[in-house]
Amino acid sequence: MKILMVCLGNICRSPLAEGIMKALIDEHRLDWIVESCGTSSFHNGEPPHKGSIDIAASHGIDIRNQRSELLIKEHIQQFDLILAMDASNYNDILRKCTFEKDRKKVKLLMNYAYPNENRPVPDPYYVGGFDIVYNMILEACSKIIEEHR
Ligand code: 4NP
Repeated sequence: MKILMVCLGNICRSPLAEGIMKALIDEHRLDWIVESCGTSSFHNGEPPHKGSIDIAASHGIDIRNQRSELLIKEHIQQFDLILAMDASNYNDILRKCTFEKDRKKVKLLMNYAYPNENRPVPDPYYVGGFDIVYNMILEACSKIIEEHR
């Protein structure tokens, strides 16, 4: 399975989601592929935010080598599951889908932990809370592993 994690800047939430999901995949010895990108190019080419790097490192996950990348149409066709951090990301991704089959791949990440509640992963860029964000993403990613492995 190929999973794409998507947020706005691809420096806070989705790099963390990529790192957490990759750690779980390693732990469960799965051969899935995970990448992340952003719906904006505000931070194109930049490494993750220090808050995300630090919270990941405190759990033994190294995300320092990731670089922010803009979501393009080709990504949507290449991945099986495209996971949005919030409703704004979700709508932005849908706007880039050409085909109905691609729209079906797009889900809100937190719906794996809290089905149909459409909970967002809050954006820590302005107000912090990287520890809360870490725990939320871990909870949802663990459910994805349970459901799909
Ligand atoms: P992210 O957080 O979408 O979780 O990477 C943000 C990063 C940067 C900005 C907004 C959100 N920004 O406006 O620059």
